[in-house]
Amino acid sequence: MALFHVLEAQQFTREILEDLFVRASKLEKAPKPTLLQNKIMITLFYEPSTRTRLSFETAMIRLGGNVVSTENAAQFSSAAKGETLEDTIRVVSGYGDVIVIRHFEEGAAFRASQVSPIPVINAGDGTGQHPTQALLDLYTIQKELGHIDGVSVAMVGDLANGRTVRSLSYLLSFYKNIRLFFVSPPNVRMRDDIKAYLTSQNIPFTESESLEEVAPQVDVIYQTRIQRERFANIVEYEKTRGIYIITEEILSRMKSHAIIMHPLPRVDEISYEVDNDHRAAYFRQAHNGLYIRMALLEKILVG
Ligand code: CP
Repeated sequence: MALFHVLEAQQFTREILEDLFVRASKLEKAPKPTLLQNKIMITLFYEPSTRTRLSFETAMIRLGGNVVSTENAAQFSSAAKGETLEDTIRVVSGYGDVIVIRHFEEGAAFRASQVSPIPVINAGDGTGQHPTQALLDLYTIQKELGHIDGVSVAMVGDLANGRTVRSLSYLLSFYKNIRLFFVSPPNVRMRDDIKAYLTSQNIPFTESESLEEVAPQVDVIYQTRIQRERFANIVEYEKTRGIYIITEEILSRMKSHAIIMHPLPRVDEISYEVDNDHRAAYFRQAHNGLYIRMALLEKILVG
């Protein structure tokens, strides 16, 4: 099945995911350095990024393509002069072959896709979704555990504002015998739209405030940052930060085969002492982003 715009996780199918994972694995072993010669990727980032922008740009370059970029589009593109997102997209879509956009507003990538004749990839839209992060997350689970069917995943932290956990919940729903454990303070619980979707798909989930109780039960702890930038009220942020920290004590409760994931960046929610444990998968996870994004660009631009 062909891919054009990549806007939300629920647009995928298990068949497409499996195809992407096979491609990513092949590209990891045998890169195709001329595949995207003469193709240009435009990266428009209205919010900060290290991993997503740089791995997309590296993926394009490693496949022989070219990149034009604004890393701070809110300040250094003509958005600063009042240009609408739609006008920007109408213009830059005439310059390249694919647009990768990160924006602070939920729905921005969808708006961009409505006026773009070239593929638009959502690299994170506010508190909406981050579908390509979920692709690399799932690829990491498969690589680390050897399977996705049957896994139990704890998602931890600010689940209300976390776009990565939202996208990952959708993708996990394509697999069999998945169990989800949402661990968060009451003020940032997983939003109702995701819970309604999971219920409609018969995916069992629980909600808890205790990481200590959930840690021994799961194959994956997916830790997230409490995102200060998403809180309008600093009091709400202070209530939430520092509640869940993965320490050696949490590690001691985890199964020996279980893994710790994190979309990164981390602030203080995983202790540095945990990094050397074989179950700390988060840097391997970030590295997998390069291969999954190479696979995605290949599928979109070549087929
Ligand atoms: N995981 C992630 O989206 O990281 P960046 O914000 O650094 O792109």
